[in-house]
Amino acid sequence: MNIMIVGSGGREYSIGRALGKDSAVDKLYFAPGNGATGQLGENVNIKEYDALADFAADNSIDLTIVGPEAPLVDGIVDIFKAKGLTVFGPSQAAAQLEGSKVYMKNFLARYGIPTARYIETDSIEKAFKFIETLPLPVVVKADGLCAGKGVIIAQSHDEAKVAASEMLSGKSFGDAGKNVIIEEFLDGYELSMFAICDGSDYILLPAAQDHKRLLDGDKGPNTGGMGAYAPTPLVDDVIYEKVRERVIRPTLDGMQNEGAPFEGVLFIGLMIVNGEPITLEFNVRFGDPECEILMPLMKTPASELFYKAATSQLKDLKVEFSDEYAVGVVMASRDYPYKGSSPAEIVVDDVVHEEIAKNTHVSYAGVSEDDGRLFASGGRVLVCVGIGDSIKEARDRAYMLCGQVHFAGKKLRTDIAYQAL
Ligand code: AMP
Ligand code: GLY
Repeated sequence: MNIMIVGSGGREYSIGRALGKDSAVDKLYFAPGNGATGQLGENVNIKEYDALADFAADNSIDLTIVGPEAPLVDGIVDIFKAKGLTVFGPSQAAAQLEGSKVYMKNFLARYGIPTARYIETDSIEKAFKFIETLPLPVVVKADGLCAGKGVIIAQSHDEAKVAASEMLSGKSFGDAGKNVIIEEFLDGYELSMFAICDGSDYILLPAAQDHKRLLDGDKGPNTGGMGAYAPTPLVDDVIYEKVRERVIRPTLDGMQNEGAPFEGVLFIGLMIVNGEPITLEFNVRFGDPECEILMPLMKTPASELFYKAATSQLKDLKVEFSDEYAVGVVMASRDYPYKGSSPAEIVVDDVVHEEIAKNTHVSYAGVSEDDGRLFASGGRVLVCVGIGDSIKEARDRAYMLCGQVHFAGKKLRTDIAYQAL
């Protein structure tokens, strides 16, 4: 099987790494990939979706897997399907679950899926009025895609009003803020769950926990995620069952009913409040860095899982997961998340301890390649992943690997998985 992965992050690297170990996979392509994916397959630099679909057809690519949300919301899946290609990811219509928070919240309300109390509006007056009725803090969200920056947790009513005004005027996020969601703040612990869906059936992966804040102790600004681990002991069978029955089943049925069956990764951002899973948001793709720790836990060949999902054959697939744990620690560049940093060479020392070498690896993200050398090129640079029989063992191994990886300005959290330990 020839497979193309669309995207350039650590998420796409980790999918490629899993597929690279899969005997059913002949050739791997990355579009556009990063400085390290060239070691796993061939990087393809075609930006236009139509031309990329033609490339897939011309090169006998049997399956295309789309990593990031932007091409999904742009409709890349529809373009590939129109050319008769097999592609894993939601249609443009189904990607609205991430592309528009207003669509997502109204969908949750329509199908009775528990979520934070909210209004959606494009009116400043209505926004202000609702803000006044909410206890503090107040959550203000821009409707459209804002690269993970469109959510403000306001500590005062005035701050919430300023955030809503700046969104509605187009000042903070342009068109993406022309509609806003104002909602109540939920106090609990946050989880990420991922369901691989084929429109009607799904495979639920082990629950993960991300670490969105830049600094230890969940301090500092929000980021794309500074580390993750799975499975988390914060989820028991009762919570899994509630998520299946109250969130995933009604979502798949509801999307069919809307005429937009959901195929692809349904990423459910949950807040567990007094044992009840409340849906904060949906994304329509794998989380990053969650993907980097979930891929190594999958025992079923990745090509089979993604191909069957893309061809409506999940019903009879039994997916096996490893009974180990995975912890991933992100290393970001010096000025992340504020601005880019100048390139710095990455040096990875040999890991001499056999046990650690066998149970750790690096998933590369913001890297470029020059003459066989890898350079940190900004943002989140790489993820050090450790696998073990306990979260502690996996975490110790991940941090041992972190000690072997060097580049000027490297920045990492030292407390990944603290909630589980
Ligand atoms: P979202 O993009 O909607 O997931 O929001 C980004 C982050 O903001 C989430 O991961 C939560 O940490 C936080 N957040 C969003 N909505 C709420 C809420 N209603 N209550 C508490 N925290 C929230
Ligand atoms: N790690 C969270 C995300 O990918 O949105």
